[in-house]
Amino acid sequence: MFKVPPVPAQRLPALLRAMPKAELHIHIEGSLEPEMIFALAQRNGVQLPYASVEALRSAYAFTDLQSFLDIYYAGASVLLHEQDFYDLGRAYLARAAMDNVAHAELFFDPQTHTARGVAMETVVGGLHRACVEARAELGISSALILCFLRHLSEEDAFATLAEAEPHLARIDGFGLDSSEKGNPPSKFERVFARCRALGKPVVAHAGEEGPPEYIGQALDLLGSARIDHGVRALEDAGLVARLVREGVPLTVCPLSNIRLCVFKTMADHTLGQLLAQGVKVTLNSDDPAYFGGYMNDNIRAVQAAFHFDAATWYRLARNSFEASFASDAEKSGWIARLDACVAAG
Ligand code: ADE
Ligand code: ZN
Repeated sequence: MFKVPPVPAQRLPALLRAMPKAELHIHIEGSLEPEMIFALAQRNGVQLPYASVEALRSAYAFTDLQSFLDIYYAGASVLLHEQDFYDLGRAYLARAAMDNVAHAELFFDPQTHTARGVAMETVVGGLHRACVEARAELGISSALILCFLRHLSEEDAFATLAEAEPHLARIDGFGLDSSEKGNPPSKFERVFARCRALGKPVVAHAGEEGPPEYIGQALDLLGSARIDHGVRALEDAGLVARLVREGVPLTVCPLSNIRLCVFKTMADHTLGQLLAQGVKVTLNSDDPAYFGGYMNDNIRAVQAAFHFDAATWYRLARNSFEASFASDAEKSGWIARLDACVAAG
């Protein structure tokens, strides 16, 4: 394993910006900036219940996950055409590349679009075109993970999966998101069995607002390869031991957890304790347009609260590549770049 050289404290911020990293928990609809919401509303003739970008932004005062989701789904209603999904994906990937994100696995929520009459092909087609072009023009690698909305029924999820099946060549995995409380992973056990039978990796949001038992269910009943959030794992010592033993990655989203009141302040966040106990933590932005920051903003906020050393930051970046769904060859290439970047200080 690469030995991390000591990095002087004043050099660390530049290193954290420059080091290559992967983003594994980003809802592409959550990268829809207020300016783009207004531009798309105008382009598509959609009426918004806000008078201005500023008025919309000032509504971003969330008290919990549901208070955010209500605004997030309303914002997504301006996305209608293939070009809209392309523009959204392309804007996020350009922004991520600026933070030296080498690889991003994008969640998308087709049910919030198909329910408005938008075809699955429109959503997948636009996002896929953005991924292909961003790779060619910016060198950023990406993948698409279709998420089922857990507040909707199993039947709805199965219908969505059937609509997705003609597009499987452009879908790299499946996930589970939306309102966690009262919608346990067990509700989607049969849907996820079908996803896995199709040969795709699966992930699930669990232990964001929901109890630690939901993390166990996501592993045992869904076969989740990673846990999205998972920050409530710390309430169950046996579960933490299991996450460490099995090397289960957590895709932690620090700014999101503060903005959705999961923790009061960054200093209260459990990510330091999870890391110290040996859990494979990764850092991510979740819904950057709503929570005050993209990848490097999250890194800066964590560093301001925790003052990690270079070896810990190396571990976090390396975890992000190891936990990705990319090939072993791609992972080795990114980790070699990470090693070179850290060695150069
Ligand atoms: N959809 C978008 N962001 C989400 C989050 N943080 N939790 C659950 N569902 C989401
Ligand atoms: Zn999320």
